[in-house]
Amino acid sequence: MQGNLFDLSQEVAVVIGGTGVLGGGMAEALGAAGAKVAVLGRNAERGMARVRAIESSGGRAQFFSADAMDADSLKAARDAVNGALGPVSVLVSAAGGNRPDATLPPGSDFCKLSRDAWNAVFDLNLVGGSLIPAQVFGETMLEQKRGSIINIASMAGMIPLSRVVAYSAAKAAVINFTKFLAREWATKGVRVNAISPGFFPADQNRALLFREDGSYTERGAQIIGHTPMARFGEAQELSGAVVWLAASRASSFVTGQNIVVDGGFSSTTI
Ligand SMILES: NC(=O)c1ccc[n+]([C@@H]2O[C@H](COP(=O)([O-])OP(=O)(O)OC[C@H]3O[C@@H](n4cnc5c(N)ncnc54)[C@H](OP(=O)(O)O)[C@@H]3O)[C@@H](O)[C@H]2O)c1
Repeated sequence: MQGNLFDLSQEVAVVIGGTGVLGGGMAEALGAAGAKVAVLGRNAERGMARVRAIESSGGRAQFFSADAMDADSLKAARDAVNGALGPVSVLVSAAGGNRPDATLPPGSDFCKLSRDAWNAVFDLNLVGGSLIPAQVFGETMLEQKRGSIINIASMAGMIPLSRVVAYSAAKAAVINFTKFLAREWATKGVRVNAISPGFFPADQNRALLFREDGSYTERGAQIIGHTPMARFGEAQELSGAVVWLAASRASSFVTGQNIVVDGGFSSTTI
């Protein structure tokens, strides 16, 4: 084999949630590796800012407005991406996150956990965050007989986090679903893997990790105390994993895997 194993110049990559911190970082990494990148999300301002960042590094990108919870919206975005950039061959499903009302306050009664909040977190992370995108963009990949789907799960999906019950269970389901679909499409040219980040400061968790003066909250300090590398991750530290899984030559025999990027958090107890 010759050439750059990690060259993505033949790929069209869709990043749903490319408007966010981790998805946006992964969109930039895919663009820097040569992919044409479609940034998908609801927030056009943040999506366009990410497109400009990719373009200013010499990459090619376009923003497409889409709601991951709505199959018709994703189908319209898929058709637009296929027309504008070419058939989608890489999908990063990075829409997701937790909700405060689905997290148990300290000392609270688990029996009182809201079913609505539970369902909303499952809907966002499992249904909108993995299932619908795989169905919609999988159609194009199956037609082309090539593709790489990368679901963004979480370290919390492997070992449940205290208090964060619905999110942990939903991300566990994302990992399980990833393995199911990998087997389903293994002989059809479509690989399906997950990346499980540990703790990375982002919009949805910053207040949980840091006080206004920049010091760690009690929870943030607990997390750092349990992380062998003794720090949080930074979005660009997911670049290697996402480019590797997207690159059809570099990871050609890799499917159904959950790649953990967590500074060692899940490798140890105390
Ligand atoms: N940060 C961490 O420590 C961490 C750890 C493990 C896993 N993760 C996972 O990483 C992924 C990215 O999260 P993040 O931390 O980067 O948070 P973030 O900055 O809040 O990004 C979340 C993204 O999800 C998108 N989203 C939410 N609902 C959507 C919808 N209905 N349709 C389309 N997009 C939607 C948002 O885009 P729009 O508002 O534009 O729609 C937003 O860009 C999530 O799956 C999260 O669970 C994060």
